[in-house]
Amino acid sequence: AENMLWGGRFTQGLDPLMVKYNNSLPFDRLFYAQDIAGSIAFARANLNGGILTKEEFAKIEQGFAQIKEEWRTDSFVIQENDEDIHTANERRLSEIIGKEIGGKLHTGRSRNEQVATDMRLWLREELKQIEVWLQDLIKVSVGRAEAELDVLMPGYTHLQKAQPVRWSHWLLSHATAFSFELERLREVIKRVNRSPLGCGALAGNPFKIDREAMAKELGFEGLLYNSMNAVADRDFVFETLQWGSSLMLKISRWAEDLIIYSCLEFGFVRLSDAYSTGSSLMPQKKNADSLELLRGKSGRAFGHMAGLYCTIKGLPTTYNKDLQESVEPLIDHIRTVGDSLQIATGVLSTLTINADKMFAALAPEMLATEFADYLVRKGVPFREGHHISGRVVALAEDKGVPMDKLSLEQLKGIDSRFGDDVITCLDYERAVELKDASGGTSKSAVKEQIEILKKQLGA
Ligand code: ARG
Repeated sequence: AENMLWGGRFTQGLDPLMVKYNNSLPFDRLFYAQDIAGSIAFARANLNGGILTKEEFAKIEQGFAQIKEEWRTDSFVIQENDEDIHTANERRLSEIIGKEIGGKLHTGRSRNEQVATDMRLWLREELKQIEVWLQDLIKVSVGRAEAELDVLMPGYTHLQKAQPVRWSHWLLSHATAFSFELERLREVIKRVNRSPLGCGALAGNPFKIDREAMAKELGFEGLLYNSMNAVADRDFVFETLQWGSSLMLKISRWAEDLIIYSCLEFGFVRLSDAYSTGSSLMPQKKNADSLELLRGKSGRAFGHMAGLYCTIKGLPTTYNKDLQESVEPLIDHIRTVGDSLQIATGVLSTLTINADKMFAALAPEMLATEFADYLVRKGVPFREGHHISGRVVALAEDKGVPMDKLSLEQLKGIDSRFGDDVITCLDYERAVELKDASGGTSKSAVKEQIEILKKQLGA
């Protein structure tokens, strides 16, 4: 069958597999409402520019109202030549209102500007929803940090017990990372929300179209001001995929911590049944599938980004059909990120903690630094204090006892500057409270972080 949109100079139909290969409707039908909104804005601009009469515009608008309803109710009948959402909508419009008027809609317009417009409009709303979900995750983290401020746990470096910290401090360490993503996301949305409409196939519009008016009608924050760039550009997709990859990387590390903390050997946290699964073979198992999927799906997110870089690298300007390959990864990426945020929030808001196990996991050796700091307060240079404290650790190891079981005499034997008050070094709560400079794990410093995050969420 002859293609009504570009069939004029063609004498032969497409190879059947080529039809399928070329067809983007199975995925870009998702943009039907955006495509229609863009078409109406375009028609209105052409009305104001004298290309369409009032009556013609009214027909176009009515026709699109019907088409939108058909998509919404899943009664739109797709035809073989509907190669994408733009051709499908325009074909249907001409069916409803007649070719005479329907054929005027595309005056000065190209699908190249249409697809970029549709994607940006769709993505803008998706990202705004994702912003809400990201805020939810940060809110839940902050809420727990506030409610569970008294709980102490081991802080790790190299996955080795390092220094005692507040559980809240761990929560906020990730919430802080997420908050940087929130900042970045707000930047990305600004750049996504700019209008390519009125740029034509590449060279611009010859019918004095009012681009500002169209942008305003569609809720864009500004124009893309070079028409060749506007149709060639997929920066808005790249930025989204980069951003999503960065977020997923952080979610993945957060998930990994919780996977470790939830295993029996640690037992710091216990996942709700709603986010765990059992084993078909081993009845005792409760697996953290939700967290493992969060970790796993980050790889998929990076793949979207790497794939699109490979696709677009080396393309000549401006539009090339390769750009159609930016749509599916974007849609899958947005779904993956959106679902992941909601799952992460669900996991965190329903897990229970075992404060006793966290406390029991603290080891006196984690206070070795306190001995060094103690000596510093007595005027000993830190390097020397560190060395002396190292000898305390070595002696405990040598005697086969925990550090807190060494006698005062034994400590004094190592260094005469250890006084009776050295016992204070063995207090975990004190060790934590001493870290009271901004950003530290003392109660006041943690509360300060909570306030910073709350303020950012409110902004
Ligand atoms: N379906 C196409 C895409 O997603 C729309 C643009 C087609 N433009 C063209 N000149 N073939 O990229």
